[in-house]
Amino acid sequence: MPNLLKLQKTFKFLLLSLFVMAITACTNNNDSKDQASVNPKKIKVDGRMDAELTSPPHVPPSTKDRSAKRLTVDMEILEEVGTMADGVDYVYWTFDGTVPGSFIRTKVGDEIEFHLKNHPDNKLPHNIDLHAVNGPGGGAVSSFVAPGREIVFSFKTLNPGLYVYHCATAPVGMHIANGMYGLILVEPEEGLAPVDKEYYIMQGDFYTKGDYGDPGLQAFDMEKAIDEDADYVVFNGKVGALTGENALDAEVGETVRLYVGNGGPNLISSFHVIGEIFDKVQLEGGSLVNENVQTTLIPAGGAAMIEFKIDAPGEYILVDHSIFRAFNKGALGQINATGKEQKDVYKGTIQEGIYLPEGGAIQEMPISDEEYAASKKPKDALTFDDKMEIGKKVYGQTCFACHQANGKGISGAFPPLANSDYLNADVERAISIVLHGKSGEIVVNGETYNSVMTSQNITDREVASVMTYIYNSWDNNETVVTEEQVKKHRR
Ligand code: CU
Repeated sequence: MPNLLKLQKTFKFLLLSLFVMAITACTNNNDSKDQASVNPKKIKVDGRMDAELTSPPHVPPSTKDRSAKRLTVDMEILEEVGTMADGVDYVYWTFDGTVPGSFIRTKVGDEIEFHLKNHPDNKLPHNIDLHAVNGPGGGAVSSFVAPGREIVFSFKTLNPGLYVYHCATAPVGMHIANGMYGLILVEPEEGLAPVDKEYYIMQGDFYTKGDYGDPGLQAFDMEKAIDEDADYVVFNGKVGALTGENALDAEVGETVRLYVGNGGPNLISSFHVIGEIFDKVQLEGGSLVNENVQTTLIPAGGAAMIEFKIDAPGEYILVDHSIFRAFNKGALGQINATGKEQKDVYKGTIQEGIYLPEGGAIQEMPISDEEYAASKKPKDALTFDDKMEIGKKVYGQTCFACHQANGKGISGAFPPLANSDYLNADVERAISIVLHGKSGEIVVNGETYNSVMTSQNITDREVASVMTYIYNSWDNNETVVTEEQVKKHRR
């Protein structure tokens, strides 16, 4: 018994200590806010205005030196079918019809009047938790809204920074996994320093019943989500949102600021731009600035502001440097930088051999005769149209990550398939490379490449189809490849 009493006493003491610590922490917080040069709570609003919201990858104009306002934010929740990857559809739940949702740009001292509308065609109630809010649930408690209803709530922005917002309706993980997140920027009173280009990027992980690239409408998979076993890890809601014709652009000499968020729901992003060093990173979207950063960690439910000057022209690839996510699950983007060559900064080719060309299919290094045993091949002959359809899918799952959606490859790293003299010169050589892989120097359209292509572990039918698709796209010579032709190259 005495022991039990002692335990109880210790427990009470611990509780009391925690209580005191909590009180002290609260007091300190208030102190630091109150001691700021201008107390944001005391900033008076001067008139009213409507917030300009933008869809990713765009960012609204700077608040510059405007005074604090009563700022109306108008947002609509939409549940809609969208494209996850070529041939793969998904029912997204969104703020304003995009993943991530619209970018909100405010400044310290603004009083936000937030209008949240839940479209009458939607099936579920939703709400919003903005990490920029000081108040219960980040606004979630006050913003629960059923389909066909609108709710209005209000808060004052006190802390400058870049913040995630997301839906927080149960099951919270599912609402976030379906795309309900975005970013809200609170600029300091004087505004952020001006830059030449600003872009809005947000990473997210997705969980589907089928595997990566399985065609058709894919349902959300709760078990995979709980296991954190993502099928897709993407920027801006889908594979290819920032590549090919959706690539971002900039010019040599320009300073680019990226507002990068991570919606999660599960995975942490090791955000990296191949070929760039971040001159400045506002870590975690807060006030601490780090300089000369190669890769910055962006937690789920967190963000970072990244700045770099473009020093040389070319293609810069955005990745999550947990690199299988980039080349096998979709976490790839691209900035095309145009301008005059800067020989003093950069000459020669991009470093080779580090990022092996890989797609969604399982791949192996070049294989020996013995290693390849005859495998399952479907029998019926395919029509040209069948081949084009199958080929397009295989391309989207296997070839796209390196050779790009437009077949143009990546200069210095992955040779183009579009209008390719190397490809069109010799179909048998091309079949052999697809089956057995290739390393060493080749010259394509006058440019030398020295990378590795792994052998592709796909069926004769898939090889014939994807090669027919490639030869009949992008100004190539319209060769039709047959399964028999492929079979001859099997060893
Ligand atoms: Cu929701």
